[in-house]
Amino acid sequence: MKTKILCGTLVAVSLAGCATTKDEAAYRAEADAALKRDFHARGIATMDRLDQDELQRICTQYRDNPPFEVQQRLEAVQQKTIKLPADGKYMGDWRSGARIAESGRGVTWSDKAGNNGGSCYNCHQLSAQQTSFGTLGPSLLQFGKARGYTIENQKYVYERIYNSKAFNTCSTMPRFGTSGTLTESQIKDLVAYLMDPNSPVNR
Ligand code: HEC
Repeated sequence: MKTKILCGTLVAVSLAGCATTKDEAAYRAEADAALKRDFHARGIATMDRLDQDELQRICTQYRDNPPFEVQQRLEAVQQKTIKLPADGKYMGDWRSGARIAESGRGVTWSDKAGNNGGSCYNCHQLSAQQTSFGTLGPSLLQFGKARGYTIENQKYVYERIYNSKAFNTCSTMPRFGTSGTLTESQIKDLVAYLMDPNSPVNR
């Protein structure tokens, strides 16, 4: 009886639920219930934040390592969400990019929509002047200098920031453009921060 109820709930939440073993399905249902119980909608932080999209669901199901064909399909879907700048220019102002990269503000319940930081410092080393940085992502120190100051690389960085999951299906890097966390002009400023020869990243 108990198993039936759990399975019924899971079908509503995720189709993958019942394909897994009973133990795993039960743990997932418990975790889902705990999240729904403890997360309270407030300000701009609404309950839909708990919903996983198809990609997140599959990454959870395969513990961030889906079969190769599945990764290829999902990455193609993610690639389609990337909107390139209408004016064909990828670079903005690196000074503003530096501020965005070092700001972890935004998206919490007490924030207003828009004007978010990028939190890049939380995962990447970016410049020699940083007081602290996380190491979940690779160091981006000297990024433009090392890769080459080409238009192709500017476009790559723009797309990477816009939707990292177009390049690595279960990347832990947030989809800043696709999610609407950062605007086109903010992403351009970040591209300049990584790709301008005068930026502290490349000095
Ligand atoms: C939660 C951690 C996290 C945050 C926040 C994050 N990144 Fe990343 N980033 C990663 C990881 C991990 C990778 C390595 C590749 C992958 O897994 O996708 C990466 C890869 C990259 C790459 C590609 C590096 C290469 O060698 O080609 C660039 C460029 C980049 N990040 C820029 C940024 C910028 C700019 C920001 C802020 C807007 C940012 N990242 C925020 C985790 C993060």
